[in-house]
Amino acid sequence: MKQFVYKTIILGTIILNVSMIYAMQGSENILISSDDTVTDLTNIHYTGKYCEECHEKKPKKGSQKYLKYNTDFNQLCKCHMYIPGEYTHPVDIEPSEGKINRIPADLPLQNGKLSCITCHDIYMQCSQNPDLEYSNKRFLRGAPYTKRTDLCFRCHDDTQYNKLDPHNNQLDENGDIVAEKCLYCHLEKPDELSDSLQEIKLLGNHLTVCQRCHVKSINHPANAKHIVIPSAEIMNMIKKTEKQFNIVLPLDYDGKIFCATCHNPHQKGVIPSERLGARVSSSEYGQRYPGNICVACHEK
Ligand code: HEC
Ligand code: HEC
Ligand code: HEC
Ligand code: HEC
Ligand code: HEC
Ligand code: HEC
Ligand code: HEC
Repeated sequence: MKQFVYKTIILGTIILNVSMIYAMQGSENILISSDDTVTDLTNIHYTGKYCEECHEKKPKKGSQKYLKYNTDFNQLCKCHMYIPGEYTHPVDIEPSEGKINRIPADLPLQNGKLSCITCHDIYMQCSQNPDLEYSNKRFLRGAPYTKRTDLCFRCHDDTQYNKLDPHNNQLDENGDIVAEKCLYCHLEKPDELSDSLQEIKLLGNHLTVCQRCHVKSINHPANAKHIVIPSAEIMNMIKKTEKQFNIVLPLDYDGKIFCATCHNPHQKGVIPSERLGARVSSSEYGQRYPGNICVACHEK
């Protein structure tokens, strides 16, 4: 039980944080810079310049680092708009008993805690290096990795990690709802009998709630920009389809298509079958439409 609460809290934080990052990206980022030529659009990494953005003065290797802001990475990495506790991965925490022995030596902790430098070799980008910039843009330790998750599994047990799949374990053996699973995407467990899309509170915005785990862009599917407010023509198609098949193709609060317009994130049985939102007509990819989903909105 303790473990459960812990995970939920951590995950909750992760999700909330991503949404906040997104929320902030929408606003104007005005940065106060020590160098007038540096704006928030300047990529200062791997340039061999801009030392003073991060260092009080140019350090020498092996001596003092003279990092600004008392080495506070929230400040040092301020262009990326992380406020304390606001990164996709938990930082500033001591690893649990179970994890501590798994963490390899080349992923160093900072004062016993997980930090930005645990995964990012920041010194790597202190000098100009186009090759590394190309092959290891994020200066990840131990890179290149074939898959993004390869780094994750250096500390996480991959068999455990698969259990993070929030879609397929929403019901237990008795068919009862596992509330913990709802909290991967919802701020609180919704009432499956009555809560509507307007009533539920998602963790993060409608996109980030999925993008946190899936690297799908807004140009998906078919490499076409789908996260948009549908044209009147397509809107008519959507209405027609919903009626014809007795399904919903829900839009987000701005009337935009979002991931869950096409994919039902719920396991069959969670939303009671008499509700339209329960319809998962094709088990493949949890799609809401029977057959080729493209024709749900596009004329053949
Ligand atoms: C984006 C911020 C940033 C910029 C720009 C930057 N540095 Fe750094 N530098 C860091 C951080 C953070 C560390 C500490 C890394 C660590 O502790 O693992 C560091 C470490 C160093 C170190 C110490 C390495 C060691 O282990 O002894 C030197 C030397 C250094 N930087 C030189 C430079 C020089 C010279 C420039 C400009 C050409 C520069 N840095 C630009 C962030 C930066
Ligand atoms: C557990 C490992 C880990 C830790 C800890 C970590 N990062 Fe990352 N970071 C990653 C990985 C993996 C990527 C993705 C790289 C990619 O997409 O190629 C990444 C990407 C990034 C990016 C580029 C993408 C973006 O969000 O704009 C930034 C900036 C970044 N990290 C900053 C930080 C900062 C700041 C911290 C400390 C608060 C931090 N990271 C801590 C693993 C980590
Ligand atoms: C340097 C080791 C390290 C790496 C690399 C790492 N993690 Fe973690 N991760 C941790 C630690 C430590 C925690 C805190 C929980 C703990 O101590 O068991 C954690 C917690 C998490 C959590 C919160 C749920 C949980 O298991 O407690 C998620 C989700 C997560 N990591 C995902 C990732 C992903 C995705 C990657 C790859 C991008 C990654 N981690 C890479 C060390 C790591
Ligand atoms: C993978 C993410 C995810 C998980 C896990 C998840 N949900 Fe949802 N849920 C969503 C999204 C996104 C929506 C909005 C789209 C929609 O209505 O289906 C939603 C909507 C709902 C709605 C409103 C449905 C409607 O038709 O208006 C209910 C009720 C609901 N969720 C209950 C639950 C319960 C109960 C659980 C736990 C078993 C759960 N959800 C788990 C993402 C998720
Ligand atoms: C906590 C992480 C997590 C979140 C959040 C999440 N997913 Fe998933 N998703 C997974 C995992 C793990 C799998 C199964 C392994 C895989 O195929 O990558 C999966 C599988 C899928 C699949 C493929 C299913 C199949 O039949 O192959 C779809 C589609 C999907 N997710 C959509 C969504 C949508 C839409 C959302 C947001 C409402 C979402 N996911 C949120 C982790 C997540
Ligand atoms: C307009 C409908 C539509 C929207 C919107 C949509 N998808 Fe999909 N998705 C599909 C279709 C169709 C497939 C299967 C064919 C394919 O991969 O293109 C699919 C496949 C997937 C898969 C499983 C296969 C794979 O490539 O991993 C995942 C995961 C997924 N989508 C996640 C998402 C996420 C996350 C979003 C939101 C950012 C999203 N989808 C938005 C229609 C959609
Ligand atoms: C939920 C409704 C919906 C579904 C399902 C859907 N689309 Fe779209 N699609 C749209 C909307 C909305 C646009 C944006 C253009 C518009 O509004 O007229 C769009 C645009 C496109 C475009 C860009 C060209 C154009 O017509 O503007 C292509 C190509 C496309 N979709 C292909 C597909 C394919 C292939 C599938 C099935 C994998 C699919 N779509 C599923 C709603 C949908």
